[in-house]
Amino acid sequence: MQAAKTRSKWAEFLDLEIDPASERPLFQQIYLMLRTAIVSNALSPGSRLPSTRQLADRLDVSRTSVLTAYEQLIAEGYVAGQAGSGTYVSHDVPQAILASQPPAAILRKANRRTLSEAGQRYAAVAADLVVTEHMAFGTGCCSIDAVTVEAWRRISAQEMRRFDPINLGYADPMGEYALRNEVAQYLRAARAVQCDPEQIIILSGAQQAIDLSLRLLIDPGAAVWVEDPGYFATRAALVAAGAKLVPVPVDGDGLMVHEGIARAPKASAVYVTPSHQFPTGSVMSMARRLDLIAWAAKSGAWIIEDDYDSEFRYVGRPLASLQGLDRDGCVIYVGTLSKILFPGIRLGFAVLPEGLVSAFKAARYLADRQPPTPHQTIVAEFMRQGFLNSHIRRMRQRYREARDVVVESITKELGDLVEIEVPECGIQLVMHFREAISDLAVTAEARRAGVVVKPVSPLYLEAEARSGLVLGYSGFDLHQLRAASANLARATLAVARRKAS
Ligand SMILES: Cc1ncc(COP(=O)(O)O)c(C=O)c1O
Repeated sequence: MQAAKTRSKWAEFLDLEIDPASERPLFQQIYLMLRTAIVSNALSPGSRLPSTRQLADRLDVSRTSVLTAYEQLIAEGYVAGQAGSGTYVSHDVPQAILASQPPAAILRKANRRTLSEAGQRYAAVAADLVVTEHMAFGTGCCSIDAVTVEAWRRISAQEMRRFDPINLGYADPMGEYALRNEVAQYLRAARAVQCDPEQIIILSGAQQAIDLSLRLLIDPGAAVWVEDPGYFATRAALVAAGAKLVPVPVDGDGLMVHEGIARAPKASAVYVTPSHQFPTGSVMSMARRLDLIAWAAKSGAWIIEDDYDSEFRYVGRPLASLQGLDRDGCVIYVGTLSKILFPGIRLGFAVLPEGLVSAFKAARYLADRQPPTPHQTIVAEFMRQGFLNSHIRRMRQRYREARDVVVESITKELGDLVEIEVPECGIQLVMHFREAISDLAVTAEARRAGVVVKPVSPLYLEAEARSGLVLGYSGFDLHQLRAASANLARATLAVARRKAS
């Protein structure tokens, strides 16, 4: 709404210059400059032109020359004058004229010709990178309650009072020390991670930790173990990096380490989600953790440990992180505020073995210099004052209820058709179809009913694919979850009926 009413005044920034030596009359030069700006879309429809007096002063010409140019533009329909409120670029500039410009598609095509091999790999995975919508059962959505909103507002206001050139200048690419210190304390206590603030780099989410790890540790063609089924965004990042993916199956105890060793004993790295395997939800057993670390220590492989949502644990104590068990400096521990707080804040972190710190610091500097300072200081203060702990406690309660409501509603609606793995932690669950129902067909049918789900079968590489859906339950109230469960059940039954007929 607001945008439609606001008139752009970018005309002030146009590079307009007249040529006093030209034989073309001044009014015509002004007319042509403005017409070119309009036709090339440098001035978009609705933009306000400078007043005739301002433009005459700026170009150092008589006002009559500018007035004459404006009159011609009005007469030809390029601009419209509004008494008392100025002159604006018309919304209906003749289409024939605009069409004479090179269409954007041609420019885009030209760009594609310049892609490097790496660029082509990125382009190839683009279609897999969907953005989750905030609709039940979208994954990775978050809830925020009034206590958090209030604390956030207060602390933001407090931090913004320190709004000065020193606090808003270039800063350490590793991130604000105050935040790294809070993160270190939190990880030592909650996740048995062994770390000092000096080893922590603040990043824009787990995804950047994964991206930098691949850039710095993986050469094109290097073998990397990935969980099968596994997290699509890491898989896409590996494809883009030119790595050779080695799918390693997963069971109820997490990644089957012995299978990985049998398939690629000399792999350069492994990407693993041990606290809450994505998507199956299994927790890697202690025996497997020790096996994985022993293999990496012996073979020289890196372990990228993605601990993306273990804060929300509903039963018992979490197992120690892989990083906490590592004695050889082979684990890069990756954490994120996307689930604990909200994904839009784009803050996460990695705990680096000492030997990797300078390479990560340089890579961050070269990618985008540093994380934004204001959000870091707000989060550091939010943590220091104990609001993150209490937020996690309250959300854990809320998400547990949400999980239980979804399990109960889906079981009631679909009974024996599905099998639900009730997750002990995290913010999503997997429901598998017991009958041969296509998860892709249900996903499409559910979408028509306004429900967003992720099919499981495309997350498999070589392991025998199961048909099922990932359901996120963290960002929605119980009423929304019940309604979405009913809609999803209807969609599933419709697909099952179509198959039977
Ligand atoms: C397995 C896994 N890792 C990490 C993330 C979080 O990524 P980020 O911190 O970049 O938002 C997600 C989010 O959906 C995820 O599912």
